[in-house]
Amino acid sequence: MSGIRCDGEREPGPGAREIGPGLNSTESRGGIEVSGSASYEDLAGKRVVITGGASGIGLATARRFVSEGSRVVIVDKNKGALEEVLSDNPGLVGGIPADVSRPEEVRDAFRQVDALLGGVDVLIANAGISVRKPFLEIEYEQWRQVLGVNLDGVFLCAQEAIRRMQAQRSGVVLFTASTNGMVGHPLYADYNASKAGVILLAKTIALEFAPWLRVNAVCPGYVLTPMQKAEYTPEMLEEVNQKIPLKRHADPEEVAALFAFLASSESSYITGQFIAIDGGETA
Ligand SMILES: NC(=O)c1ccc[n+]([C@@H]2O[C@H](COP(=O)([O-])OP(=O)(O)OC[C@H]3O[C@@H](n4cnc5c(N)ncnc54)[C@H](O)[C@@H]3O)[C@@H](O)[C@H]2O)c1
Repeated sequence: MSGIRCDGEREPGPGAREIGPGLNSTESRGGIEVSGSASYEDLAGKRVVITGGASGIGLATARRFVSEGSRVVIVDKNKGALEEVLSDNPGLVGGIPADVSRPEEVRDAFRQVDALLGGVDVLIANAGISVRKPFLEIEYEQWRQVLGVNLDGVFLCAQEAIRRMQAQRSGVVLFTASTNGMVGHPLYADYNASKAGVILLAKTIALEFAPWLRVNAVCPGYVLTPMQKAEYTPEMLEEVNQKIPLKRHADPEEVAALFAFLASSESSYITGQFIAIDGGETA
């Protein structure tokens, strides 16, 4: 596997920030006005790795960090989507095709990260999959696949990133968990178990590496991403919206904003936590 480097990459420096397309002021996504202006000065120049960065929450987060002046590399299994995202977002340093559930691919991906960024300051382990199925119909193969991507993938990427951060005695590690890891939801037993595991993994790592590393898990509720849209008819979408106290799904940029805050020094006293961003769903 070989990394894809963006042509035309520029080194962001103070006062010379890369701005991702559509993120320099305010844009409309699905009718929602989203502000994406740069706001955390200490994120400028940070070396950021985001898994699952070719779609949905990962892509919105990659674009947000580019707008903050960070040096961003995305890792994703979907090579076609990766190439498209890189050509649409020239502010990205590069993209690496890899399956986060495979140890040898993760090892190789981080070697490519070293070549592209020379280290890691922020890891956002975000790649995840879900399959909706009644418990008794979940085949062992599916169970392994969901746990393999959602939990093994987070474990493998965190080990690689923290080995690099340990040498510099600084870093931030963020995981995408889910409200499904906080409370039970029928029909997602494998997914829920994987996300509950991600939360406790974050807490454990936070304790092992404090005080120089901060580790937190973000727990989105319903976010309107391709993964979520694929499961809905328009009627189902409206039905779910009505159950959410804020009466709508989150926009991926709203989750990206939380990642930016948690990676920045504005959140310097927050570690070992899981933070819900769910429109009041778990209130
Ligand atoms: N969308 C939601 O409502 C929601 C809610 C809570 C949590 N989440 C979590 O957010 C994360 C991102 O979800 P999304 O909604 O943006 O999904 P998405 O499907 O839009 O994006 C996921 C990305 O991960 C990549 N990916 C999948 N398996 C991979 C693997 N094995 N190795 C590398 N890359 C892989 C996909 O190619 C895709 O680009 C997931 O962990 C998901 O569980 C999503």
